[in-house]
Parts: sequence; structure tokens; C-alpha cells
Amino acid sequence: MKTVRILFISIEGNTRSFLKNLTKYAESITDQTSNPIKIELTEISEQTDLANESAPFFAFVPTYLDGGNGIDNGVTELMTNALGEYIEYGNNARLLKGVVGSGNRNFNEQYCLTAKRYASKFNAPFLADYELRGTGADVERIYKILSENA
Ligand SMILES: Cc1cc2nc3c(=O)[nH]c(=O)nc-3n(C[C@H](O)[C@H](O)[C@H](O)COP(=O)(O)O)c2cc1C
Repeated sequence: MKTVRILFISIEGNTRSFLKNLTKYAESITDQTSNPIKIELTEISEQTDLANESAPFFAFVPTYLDGGNGIDNGVTELMTNALGEYIEYGNNARLLKGVVGSGNRNFNEQYCLTAKRYASKFNAPFLADYELRGTGADVERIYKILSENA
């Protein structure tokens, strides 16, 4: 079974909650799927020491931007910068296999913009998005995407 390493950041707990549900789901369907994956989570925060990654990983990032509309202003990243700095460190970006974003659709053009910007900056695919804590359907959809890209 392949291990899928996920680095994530979560300011208010939604991303953490989604990834706990994803991990439980992965454990629950191990015997029922042809391409099972094991999820390995690492939470990054401002306290995390920068380190060299040694294996491929995915990044899950929520969106926190300063005001604006995401088109001509409002694209300054707040709160989640520690994850971007970690990916940027050493050769880590080369091991980034894809980015999954979360946010709130009320932010219109800024919806999940941080994940899209990471994907572009670090030359990795933007794989999926979900709102807030996500739904059961989001968990199943994103599990499938990760297993296909593992
Ligand atoms: C101050 C603030 C700014 C936010 N800005 C955006 C935004 O620009 N785009 C977006 O899609 N979601 C935005 N959100 C929604 C968060 O990305 C969303 O609540 C996410 O689930 C938070 O994840 P976390 O609980 O893991 O930190 C914002 C939320 C807050 C509180």
C-alpha cells in the first residue's frame, strides 16, 4: 500500500478536521479498494523548524488573504505563510506532488487562491478544492484524486 504524505497548515481547525476525516476514511476502505493509500499527516505551523523533506508530499492549504477582490488587489497571504516557506526551503518544492486548497466561496475570485498560487509558484498541479471542513463527498473525491496521483 502506498503512503501519501501530506503537509498542511490549519489556523482555525477546518483543514485539520478534514484531514482527520480523510485519514479515517482511508483506514476504513483499505480492504475494499484496488488502490488503497495510507495517509501520513504533518502539521506545519510558525513553530515548525524548516527541514529537508526526503519523500514526495502533497500540501493542503486554506486561504487567508487581506481584503480585496483577488483580481487586482487582496492577494497578500496572511497566516498560512509558514507552509509556503517550508515548501520553499531547500529542495522541498521539487518533492511537492500537488496542492489541495480550501476556503469559502463567499470570497468569490479569492476562493482557494492561496493553493492556486502555491501550485503556480512551486510548479505543482492544483489537484482539488473544498469548502470549510468539507463534506463526506469531498473526502471520497479527494481520496480518489490522491490515490490516482500517489
Ligand atoms: C480572516 C479570514 C480571511 C479569509 N480569506 C479567505 C479568502 O480570501 N478566500 C477563501 O476562499 N477563504 C477565505 N477564508 C476562509 C478560510 O479559508 C476557511 O474558513 C478555511 O476553512 C479555514 O481553514 P482552517 O480552519 O484550517 O484555518 C478566510 C477566513 C478568514 C477567517
